[in-house]
Amino acid sequence: MKTKLIAPSLLSADFGNLERDIEMLNRSQADWLHVDVMDGRFVPNISFGFPVMKAIQKHSKKFVDVHLMIVEPEKYVEEFINQGADLVSVHYEACVHLHRTINLIQDKGAKAGVVLNPATPVLMLEDIIAEVDLVLLMSVNPGFGGQKFIENTYKKIAETKDLIISNNSTALIQVDGGVNLENAGKLFEAGADVLVAGNAVFSTENPERTIELLKV
Ligand code: DX5
Ligand code: ZN
Repeated sequence: MKTKLIAPSLLSADFGNLERDIEMLNRSQADWLHVDVMDGRFVPNISFGFPVMKAIQKHSKKFVDVHLMIVEPEKYVEEFINQGADLVSVHYEACVHLHRTINLIQDKGAKAGVVLNPATPVLMLEDIIAEVDLVLLMSVNPGFGGQKFIENTYKKIAETKDLIISNNSTALIQVDGGVNLENAGKLFEAGADVLVAGNAVFSTENPERTIELLKV
């Protein structure tokens, strides 16, 4: 059976009404809650950190998917797991010792994902694919919500699928950036298992309905 999971990104939520937005996601058909952490160094933007994680942990009933867009993520993964992260994804480009960091995340009891920026080739994952629980393909340059989807991602999904199969990996494929009602079906069709959607969910009048529609 094909997996079709939706992970709304909290980056596009209303931070003045964070509890309300998390409750909406709890009621919705969202599968995961995507948490974008940015440090102003790995990416040219700063989002939020542990105090917001605490609020998420308190209110969310969903699987918490943390996307770390930070340098030296190994310094913070344990704290994110202690604060409720079920999955922690780190950027290939931010990890000098990727294998060690992936093992650290799993040893601390969470699922581990590796993220590729749009210009990083899938083949860089050849020697880690068997160990990871998820590959996150960035379909925009990380740092901001509401950007335009990069079409080359379809090719990367196919390459990731091939790599997973040839290595007997159980990794899921997640796509993040510019996902909307127009491309969601095509992305699942192409082999994506999990789609992140920020703007497409939170900019609509009925986010719960949009989440439903992203799955069909
Ligand atoms: C971008 C973040 C994304 C972002 C997606 O750096 O990693 O998760 O919130 O937002 P949309 O869906 O609006 O492109
Ligand atoms: Zn993200």
